[in-house]
Amino acid sequence: MSRMTTTKLQEMKKASQKITMLTAYDYSMAKILDNCGVDVLLVGDSLSMVMLGNENILPVTMDEMVTFTKAVAKGTTKALVVADMPFLSYKVDLKDAVYNAGRFIKEAGAQAVKVEGGEHIAKTILSMIHADIPVMGHLGLTPQAIHQMGGYKIQGKTPPSAKELIKDAKILEEVGIFALILECIPYELAQEVAQAINIPTIGIGAGPYCDGQVLVIHDVLGLYDEIRPKFVRPYLDLKSIIAKAVNKYIADVRQGEFPTLEESY
Ligand code: KIV
Repeated sequence: MSRMTTTKLQEMKKASQKITMLTAYDYSMAKILDNCGVDVLLVGDSLSMVMLGNENILPVTMDEMVTFTKAVAKGTTKALVVADMPFLSYKVDLKDAVYNAGRFIKEAGAQAVKVEGGEHIAKTILSMIHADIPVMGHLGLTPQAIHQMGGYKIQGKTPPSAKELIKDAKILEEVGIFALILECIPYELAQEVAQAINIPTIGIGAGPYCDGQVLVIHDVLGLYDEIRPKFVRPYLDLKSIIAKAVNKYIADVRQGEFPTLEESY
């Protein structure tokens, strides 16, 4: 099976086929998820919290994101790998923005990048696209603007803010993004956006009417429970499963039950 492409994703929307997307941050996990057939793997800046233990996503650097993206790219042959551009890597200087986006393609092996924001970054997105870098957008709750938004709050609840979000979505589509993440907005608004634009919308906390869904893999597997938003569905309690296995290993070593002679040279 050949690798997912940005154009195939758009065909999936036209054919009403739901798009599946998950985050991945390392080689081994990326390989498992890729073999499962997930359409898109996002090396999210959420790795700042779930992999690096930071309080939020703001501290993660370009170099750190490139390192994790390289690992994920090496673990995949089928999924489209999208790298999240970190805070301050694309909103300060246009040239830097294009250069940083290009690093994810050239150095790390991603096929696309993701940026947060609407009309105010349209020019930046256009410059990336002119440099042949496919761009995914992200509207609604944009975690890099956490301090501006005053916390992790549902966005687009008032008629003016909903109208603004629809306007931003249309501008981003016109500029040339290939897909749009909608995070933490009312499901009716997400449905309206999905109908208003021709590119796929991928929801997280945006209800069932988006063209696809994305979740953080640590939330899906029950590996990270420091924040548990309502939209998360844990499919596994991997944290407890790991603890059980590790406790058994500790007990086996302490009691001299591991290794046996069969497990020795
Ligand atoms: O950083 C991230 O993981 C994300 C999503 C979950 C959309 O941006």
